[in-house]
Amino acid sequence: MVLGIESSCDETGAGLVRDGVLLGQAVASSMDEHARYGGVVPEIAARAHVHAMAPVVREALDRAGLTLGDVGAVAVTTGPGLSGALQVGVAAAKSYAFSLGVPLYGVHHLAGHVAAAGLAGGPLPNPCVVLIVSGGHTSLLLVRDLARDPIVHLGDTLDDAAGECFDKTARILGLPYPGGPAIDRAARDGDPRAVRLPRPLTGAGDDPYAFSFSGLKTAAARWVEGHRAVGTEPRVPDAAASLQEAIADTLTRKAVRACTDHGIGTLVVVGGVAANSRIRALTEQRCAAAGIALRVPPLALCTDNGAMVAAIGDLLVRAGAEPAPLDVSIDPSAPLEYAALTPRPRARRAA
Ligand code: KG4
Ligand code: ZN
Repeated sequence: MVLGIESSCDETGAGLVRDGVLLGQAVASSMDEHARYGGVVPEIAARAHVHAMAPVVREALDRAGLTLGDVGAVAVTTGPGLSGALQVGVAAAKSYAFSLGVPLYGVHHLAGHVAAAGLAGGPLPNPCVVLIVSGGHTSLLLVRDLARDPIVHLGDTLDDAAGECFDKTARILGLPYPGGPAIDRAARDGDPRAVRLPRPLTGAGDDPYAFSFSGLKTAAARWVEGHRAVGTEPRVPDAAASLQEAIADTLTRKAVRACTDHGIGTLVVVGGVAANSRIRALTEQRCAAAGIALRVPPLALCTDNGAMVAAIGDLLVRAGAEPAPLDVSIDPSAPLEYAALTPRPRARRAA
């Protein structure tokens, strides 16, 4: 049984996975402590991880009806993320691994998001297209065997991530942090056609799989300024609904196209932004129309958590991957190439 530990941003997560089955998990968040600053304050996040780590691990074990003695391996996010925050999780994971005498695995946070989808509805098919949409990343990936094969990037964002676009526009609209859920809520009372917003990089000559979201945020800002210049208050729900529609339309169009172009029958949508109600609904609709099977993890597995890290650890253990040394270090800007950060899976190394 693998204990997974996540601490790359503002969530302290612990999860327990055995043979692809989630046995228990617990998450503590320092989000409320950051809200008044309008974004995550790295030092506050790191200190909150120190306080939450041991209780969160204990809670996950209690929920699973297990004890530390049942832990057979420890997996931890070693990157990417905030360095101080990552350090706390890695220090905790090393302590558990060393004191329990079990192997340690360092994993990539985004690969964890992908693996989370395999905890609900069975293992992910090989191959599948993965749309990963979080606060810091937006990518279309071609994923084969997560534990063994390199992850192929079909396209990435050229500037802001989708979540960043939600968060920054929410701020412009005067909505609270985190912006994504606030826009999702506000959009319920809005008209998605009220504000004409562009669909970036969807023209005939554009890269079909690349994203660009910074222009959307600017367009929304111009719209707000335009209203204020003539003394009218912008209708926030309309702006929220229009922005959400522009992001959902762009993401789902490109994701479905990636599947059809590559002849792949399954689309997996993961990351915090996959919690968005309109993105979920529109992907469902477009995948159904294109005959593509859709996998979106339940909400609790979309945002950062420890179960996703345990899920990767579980895949690595079962693939016979080489564990990380106890002096493994964090990599705050790790590119997404393999699920395991260090060392590379044995099969690939020998190849
Ligand atoms: O994956 P995640 O929890 O953390 C990162 O690794 O970045 O993603 C956080 C992002 C934030 O930008 C947040 O605003 C966004 O996910 N988010 C949402 C929703 N819930 C969270 N965005 C749109 N709609 C939501 N319902
Ligand atoms: Zn994340």
